[in-house]
Amino acid sequence: MKRMTRRSFLEGVAATGAAALAQPACAASSQSAPAAVRRAPAPLVIASANGWRGAARPGDPAPRPSAVEAALARLGDAQVAAGKYGLLEAVVAGVGVVEDDPEDHSVGLGGLPNEEGVVQLDAAVMFGPTHQAGAVAALENIQNPARAAMYVLRYTDHALIVGPGAYRFARAFGLPHAELLTEEARRLWLYWKQRASERDDWLTPPEEDVDESTRQASSGGTIHLSALDARGDLAAATTTSGLAYKIPGRVGDSPLVGAGLYCDNDVGAAGATGRGEEVIVNCGAYAIVAAMRRGLEPEAACLETLKEVAEKARRRGLFQDGKPSFGLTFYALRKDGAYGAAAMFEGGSFAVADAATGVGRLERCAWVYDR
Ligand code: GLY
Repeated sequence: MKRMTRRSFLEGVAATGAAALAQPACAASSQSAPAAVRRAPAPLVIASANGWRGAARPGDPAPRPSAVEAALARLGDAQVAAGKYGLLEAVVAGVGVVEDDPEDHSVGLGGLPNEEGVVQLDAAVMFGPTHQAGAVAALENIQNPARAAMYVLRYTDHALIVGPGAYRFARAFGLPHAELLTEEARRLWLYWKQRASERDDWLTPPEEDVDESTRQASSGGTIHLSALDARGDLAAATTTSGLAYKIPGRVGDSPLVGAGLYCDNDVGAAGATGRGEEVIVNCGAYAIVAAMRRGLEPEAACLETLKEVAEKARRRGLFQDGKPSFGLTFYALRKDGAYGAAAMFEGGSFAVADAATGVGRLERCAWVYDR
């Protein structure tokens, strides 16, 4: 029986979409191989694997939407592109596709809740041209936290608003109150709670009372998305329901500028999915952009930062059998259209959509450790 542990939740990000990788556009590199150099024409959007729609599923009434394609379409709309914040609107619209998807259990609607069964969301956006950021954390009952984060950026002189204040702020801007705990997420949470401890009064349900989908549920993943427009400007967004069954109030890396995302309009943008605590203590996204500023290709910048995180994890006791005990994926997009991604473990993929094809695809991540 596959139990949804914290580790499997966190590694889910790296694994998401790997099985659906139909045609890798580029061979994966490994720790010892030189980093791949990939480049595409702007507008260009990259995202975590859940930013691509994946294969159509039986019974789908229409092709499932894709975050990278939604963002790219906005960037191709002359009216949107001409607006001062059109690029930012595009990244927010892109990640909104996944926030609105009840089947992605780690973002927005349908996100897995905290240990008390309450969905708490984190999100941040960053806008290169003005070097502004906006973020919300531990936000309840608002389905599109990245949009709330954009309102923080555009309409306040703050960078981060949390908890009930963030909820009231989002409501003031017209974002609707929403019940985010779907029936399926509630079932997954209850199953976790019933099995969380041998020392409480909850009894583990008999196997026959638990359906296969609850036992095998995928944890989905945070979405990070970075975009480069035709003017050469950059923006980024990261949005998540965070660590499944977390202590209420826990905030991960996603809403923290420099951790879950960073953007320097002179250099590039970067973001992270996976174990937020490691990204926070290593300033992950900032480190990737700094590495690109030093001249590293995006994929090499992601690999260098992952290795740094792994080295520090050793000191923190987060190592088992010579490998980190957690999954992590980094994404990087440079101002000249070079891009890449790398995961701690082999098997990850990421989403890309560019002006040349106009449609999304998955590409393989480089990796540090074989599985
Ligand atoms: N990276 C998402 C989180 O740790 O909350």
